[in-house]
Amino acid sequence: MKGKYNFEHTSFPSLSELDEEIKTLMLAAKAQLKRSYAPYSNFKVGAAVLLENNEIYLGCNQENASFPLCICAERVALYAAAAHEDTFRIKALAITASNPVKPLTEACMPCGACRQVIQEYEIRQNSSFDLYLSSEENEIIKVTGIQTLLPNSFSKDLLL
Ligand code: THU
Repeated sequence: MKGKYNFEHTSFPSLSELDEEIKTLMLAAKAQLKRSYAPYSNFKVGAAVLLENNEIYLGCNQENASFPLCICAERVALYAAAAHEDTFRIKALAITASNPVKPLTEACMPCGACRQVIQEYEIRQNSSFDLYLSSEENEIIKVTGIQTLLPNSFSKDLLL
């Protein structure tokens, strides 16, 4: 049977298959779900960024009655890391989601805007990092570098 993900990835059937460090990161992302503010979509997202200095920064989506002001969990977590560290290198980003009114059947994929933001952080540190995508009790998908999810992207190469 053809897999449901048409990009290069590794699939982990459950949390217990992950390395201890990444399992901790994913659990930290899951713990963020309770702080998600998603009254308009019911789509709760949690994110956790692991730095090479072993610090973990957290995020969850924050919605607003003025819909364009909603911000995704991934960007909250990445911007928190950038706002708290003078220099930093990202090792991994864990993303998870849950929907209390509509059970999710597959891993949460970062939206297009977040893919672009993730790319910016890879460019800043001149190396890619691992993404771990999950939701509820579903399989966890590992992607090595955002290029896989954002091919032929727009970047600063054309500017200045
Ligand atoms: N959302 C995220 O936080 N991350 C994603 O990658 C996908 C979407 C949030 C934004 C909004 O609060 C809700 O999910 C529905 O789009």
